[in-house]
Amino acid sequence: MAERRSDALVIFGATGDLAYKKIFPSLQSMVKEGRLAVPVICVGREEVPLERLKERMGDSLRDYGNAADTASRAGLAELLDYVGGDYGEAATFEALRAKLGGAERPLHYLAIPPSAFPMVVEGLGASGCARGARVVLEKPFGRDLASAEDLNRTLQAVFDEHSIFRIDHYLGKEPVHNLVHFRFANSFLEPIWNRNYVDHVQITMAEDIGVEGRGRFYEEAGAIRDVVQNHMLQVVALLAMEPPIGAGADALRDEKAKVLKSIRPLTGRSLVRGQFRGYRDEEGVAPDSDVETFAALEFHIDSWRWADVPFYIRAGKLLPLRATEVLVTLRQPPQKVFSGKAFEAGPPNYYRFRLGPDVEIAIGARIRGAGEPARSVPTELVACREPGEALEPYDRLLYEAMGGEPLLFARVDDVEAAWRIVDPILARPSPLYEYEPGTWGPKQAEELLADRGGWHAPGQAVGEPCD
Ligand code: BG6
Repeated sequence: MAERRSDALVIFGATGDLAYKKIFPSLQSMVKEGRLAVPVICVGREEVPLERLKERMGDSLRDYGNAADTASRAGLAELLDYVGGDYGEAATFEALRAKLGGAERPLHYLAIPPSAFPMVVEGLGASGCARGARVVLEKPFGRDLASAEDLNRTLQAVFDEHSIFRIDHYLGKEPVHNLVHFRFANSFLEPIWNRNYVDHVQITMAEDIGVEGRGRFYEEAGAIRDVVQNHMLQVVALLAMEPPIGAGADALRDEKAKVLKSIRPLTGRSLVRGQFRGYRDEEGVAPDSDVETFAALEFHIDSWRWADVPFYIRAGKLLPLRATEVLVTLRQPPQKVFSGKAFEAGPPNYYRFRLGPDVEIAIGARIRGAGEPARSVPTELVACREPGEALEPYDRLLYEAMGGEPLLFARVDDVEAAWRIVDPILARPSPLYEYEPGTWGPKQAEELLADRGGWHAPGQAVGEPCD
């Protein structure tokens, strides 16, 4: 049975950064597409007149939305309302309750620092604003397993798990959906998607930007908490899970949780941490900061399908380019049929999934090069190549949460399972190597993959020379 759509949207932290950069622009495009027509009640700690909030929304659309589209901007302004007050005061929630009027299924979006989650969730519960409601929150879902469990207890004391929507924006990305589609809408992949054919899997999440004024936030996070525990492990789960038993959200989420639970907790030996030169000079960063802006890790999945197939992840800031890419490398053929130097070991076959900024799915193969002398050359069969997001992840995720559709959200068990994997390396100090901005991280990261042909540079066919 279809869930009833939310009849009001409440945004806590409406005067903050996330609302400014992501939420208002998404609301604008939802209005434009006719997907949002319910009251949007903004909540912030400051008492500001509604007109000021509307101006801020206008600035946000100028900077991050579609300033030229005045109709959708005016349409969104019409929906806005504002409640200002301390999140620790009952009066703030009473004022919100009054603004909600007859709304029966509000969606509360917590665009606030995690330290404020418990206070706001309790306020929503005590005031009756949580009755029939849904709640959306953003990562980080805790700092480690213990704090994630605490947070989940806080949330579940007031909301049912099926009313809690944990945003990992990677799950809203079209290329990530395409990866799942390619795996399960085709029958040719499944027979080889296992230890008998796959040699190893690597995922690179490269960003060519630094911390962009978010030094204070980043000091609390580091690459492992910021993107590995969530975005990267969600991608691993989708790549490695068993086929879901049906089409429902829980069928897929059950499989994701199962595979995450079978990933071995990490040890220091499977980790290389790096920090770009200059990070310690960023605002909000300690002069002796030990926080990593780069991490390369090796994972093992203890299952029949993946025994002895290593999964490697590297993620970092200020790398040579911006791209997220998965490379699934197959084993070499078992026997040589062609002799001679020109046929000697070249790159093995592989699947390459570009997850951003554009969609690209390619299969690496070898063919006989034209003419004489005979030789084997690597080539790519490109399955698809499309420009980036048709719909921004936030537009998609907000719309789905308002409809009560849980498929694209992280569930309590997969969040906790992902923390369990990284918890041991977060708790123990490990070496931190400096790297130059614009390089692929510290050279120690190369050693992780030294006997498997090294890391693949995203955006290139394997075997092409790196720039
Ligand atoms: C966020 C991280 O979750 O993802 C950022 O906090 C990172 O540090 C961002 O830059 C990357 O997202 P995308 O969609 O650009 O790959």
